[in-house]
Amino acid sequence: MTLRHYLQFKDFSRDDFEYLFERARLIKEKFKRYEPHHVLFDRTLVMIFEKASTRTRLSFEAGIYQLGGSAIYLNTQDSQLGRGEPITDTAQIISGMCDIVMIRTYEQTTVEQLAAASRVPVINGLTNDYHPCQVLADIFTFIEQKGPIQGKTVAWVGDANNMCNTWLQAAEILDFRVQVSSPAGYEVKPEFMAGNTHVSLFADPMEAARGAHLVTTDVWTSMGYEAENAVRMKAFADWRVDDEMMAIADKDAVFMHCLPAHRGEEVTASVIDGPQSVVWDEAENRLHAQKALMEFLLLGRQ
Ligand code: CP
Ligand code: NVA
Repeated sequence: MTLRHYLQFKDFSRDDFEYLFERARLIKEKFKRYEPHHVLFDRTLVMIFEKASTRTRLSFEAGIYQLGGSAIYLNTQDSQLGRGEPITDTAQIISGMCDIVMIRTYEQTTVEQLAAASRVPVINGLTNDYHPCQVLADIFTFIEQKGPIQGKTVAWVGDANNMCNTWLQAAEILDFRVQVSSPAGYEVKPEFMAGNTHVSLFADPMEAARGAHLVTTDVWTSMGYEAENAVRMKAFADWRVDDEMMAIADKDAVFMHCLPAHRGEEVTASVIDGPQSVVWDEAENRLHAQKALMEFLLLGRQ
């Protein structure tokens, strides 16, 4: 089998995603029926975390066990990564002992270096630039709730961060629109939207939300940017998803948030805990989507 990695959303084609969404649906159905799906019996997943996580660790660790394999957790502090061992040497070691690796780190280049030196598939579990596993689960959730995403409109309200950059790639590949509104100084960087014909930028967050079928946001301060927190609190004050914003979106719009959320900052409790919010399904779908992803990377299409 050809070695493939999932380092950013655009590593896969529309056809690959269509396969993955259908496969995730099937794997989820089996899970709900308590039917074993041990297609990765005896396979070992390594999970490298250089940043904190609840959902990503839970979903990958539970996911590989449910596929019949096992997981090894490494973090910066307790491994030689924190003492300067090159990521490329780590790749050699993992390739000799394990079958697949997921990494959460800061720089996208770290993930790329790991993949370049790896003989096993590498999955990006979040970098400063991208969060492709989350958007995979988010679009699976949208399809489950509302049907095909092609031709639909997604509103991104807030920081033009790793989640936003990933939505922009997804829009181009899966042919939907993204309407982005970010405060001055936190807008999409030109390199993340170069040549993208599916994005529109708005100064006013209400205009970004207008008519959207999916309204989504994220924390004002992502991991790694904590030193900017006080300044960001002021800058983002008007970029909060509230009932008024949901009312200007499509009447059937759903609200998503990758979580963790800060109620009263980027989203009101009335929205995230309200009837249009699908955040719990979205989080659960990380499990099903990533099981499909690991199966795909190790066994190809079934
Ligand atoms: N959404 C997400 O990736 O959550 P964690 O940071 O808890 O993994
Ligand atoms: N943008 C957030 C997502 C957390 C899952 C961060 O990078 O911290």
